[in-house]
Amino acid sequence: MHTTIPAGLTRKQAELFAKLDPERLPRHIGIIMDGNGRWAKRRHLPRIAGHKRGVTAVRDVVTLASNINLPALTLYAFSAENWKRPKTEINFLMALLRTYLKNEVPLMNEHNIQLRYIGRIHELAPEVQERMAWATEQTARNTGMIMTLALNYGGRAELIDAFQSIVRAAANNGGLEHLKIDEELVSRHLYSNLPDPDMVIRTSGEMRLSNFLLWQLAYSEIYVTQTLWPDFTGADLLEAIADFQKRERRYGNVGAAV
Ligand code: FPP
Repeated sequence: MHTTIPAGLTRKQAELFAKLDPERLPRHIGIIMDGNGRWAKRRHLPRIAGHKRGVTAVRDVVTLASNINLPALTLYAFSAENWKRPKTEINFLMALLRTYLKNEVPLMNEHNIQLRYIGRIHELAPEVQERMAWATEQTARNTGMIMTLALNYGGRAELIDAFQSIVRAAANNGGLEHLKIDEELVSRHLYSNLPDPDMVIRTSGEMRLSNFLLWQLAYSEIYVTQTLWPDFTGADLLEAIADFQKRERRYGNVGAAV
């Protein structure tokens, strides 16, 4: 099999890509970016140093994902539970997000990336929301990879918001009497209309979903790596995709070999 290598890949990335089946790339990957604190601790650095390095990993992974024409990438950047962290760390993460958006919009435009968000965005500080709105506006005309940042996001909160939205829509539309709830209806009222992720990646070894995309991950392949997020690279993403391509997805059916 001869594979056309996309432009912009490093030699190592190209070697890894050549081993993939280009016809069976995932359409959507979700990533739980974990381990920034541990990365810093191992180096006797403050936790925020880990978050800062986490941005470098985001850049490498986003660039690679876009170069291989992944249609959609969703990154868990701040969970609804992350408010429990020390105020100083939260403030740092919010400042980092603002800087990130300001600095990375040119790269997003260069790569034709559309930026979107999921989560209870209205609860974030006004100056954060403003920068977010600016960055989406700047990238709104792009037609390539859809990159979604999950911010103040919780899977259960998303479902609660969806159910409230369903009930509101029904009330405005003749009442609840004839309301028929099915999977299609629930999916339609979630924060985004992307296809469900084919694969979810979690860095730094924990075997949990931590309230990430609970509805959408029902049939996703789970890939957990010990690598801490700041050390995770585009090449690691290609390794994860290679693993994904070895899996047999059955969706509750019997396998092809049966
Ligand atoms: C988890 O590591 C990471 C976070 C809570 C924040 C994720 C943020 C980044 C990757 C950097 C910023 C990203 C953007 C898009 C601006 P942790 O602190 O829970 O690590 P630990 O489990 O080792 O303590």
